[in-house]
Amino acid sequence: MSASIIDGKAIAEGLRARLKEDVSAFGANGRAPGLAVVLVGSDPASAVYVRAKARQTAEVGMLSFEHRLPGDVRQDDLIRLVETLNRDPAVDGILVQLPLPAHIDATVILSTVDPAKDVDGFHPVNAGRLATGDTRALSPCTPLGCIHLLKSVRANLAGAHAVVLGRSNIVGKPLAQLLLGENCTVTIAHSRTRDVAGVCRTADIVVAAAGQPEMVRGDWIQRGALVIDVGINRIAREGGYRLVGDAAFDEVRDRAGAITPVPGGVGPMTIAYLLQNTLKAARQRSCDAVT
Ligand code: GUN
Repeated sequence: MSASIIDGKAIAEGLRARLKEDVSAFGANGRAPGLAVVLVGSDPASAVYVRAKARQTAEVGMLSFEHRLPGDVRQDDLIRLVETLNRDPAVDGILVQLPLPAHIDATVILSTVDPAKDVDGFHPVNAGRLATGDTRALSPCTPLGCIHLLKSVRANLAGAHAVVLGRSNIVGKPLAQLLLGENCTVTIAHSRTRDVAGVCRTADIVVAAAGQPEMVRGDWIQRGALVIDVGINRIAREGGYRLVGDAAFDEVRDRAGAITPVPGGVGPMTIAYLLQNTLKAARQRSCDAVT
């Protein structure tokens, strides 16, 4: 049996088409939602993401505000910019692109973003709301995209044993909370987990978010399991490079029930959910303004 391939690109396109209609309905109240993206320095991969975000923001009818700061910007100046965006009524969502340069404390910056505008879902208030099941939570975009992809092949995830490989604040931990919210039994495995292959073999769902190229092998996967691959790793090949995930795609495909490709799986969903979160933030802010 060969796994079905979950087409994240097509699913994200569908999501953006629906968002465009919802943004237009929201705009009938008098203004379009606005998303501000802050890019510090000139990391080429970050610049590519930020360009894609700006283009897709405009395509769904939202306002895109881009702020580029030099790599040697002072932390206080970055804090001041975030505070200005917090006060700006045209800005519903604020995203500070990570990674930040080493002289800047990312924890301080992410905690400066107004939780109501925190479309990345990285502020402790939103992490707490997610953990306590508060529906006002703005949750991290990549985990939201993973849940959507899983539900595209299995509408009800209740009772499934989900193994999340990786415990980052951006993916592993919030994804575990979202899976719990779907009534999964959740295991978070990480670099100190004993017999990670054996743990994965007990899973109905494996989400690979460890940042290790082709770490998950075919014989780690139970027949018919769902595999979501969050990894995007560049590996050198024939003078250039190729992108691979955290799962060894060809091996895993032979055993899994469904699998996401890299690229074209989780990646496109992240930006779609960033836009979805921006609309959610705009709606919540406009309700708060009325009450
Ligand atoms: N860098 C890589 N992924 C992300 C993300 O989801 N949000 C932010 N802010 N930076 C990132």
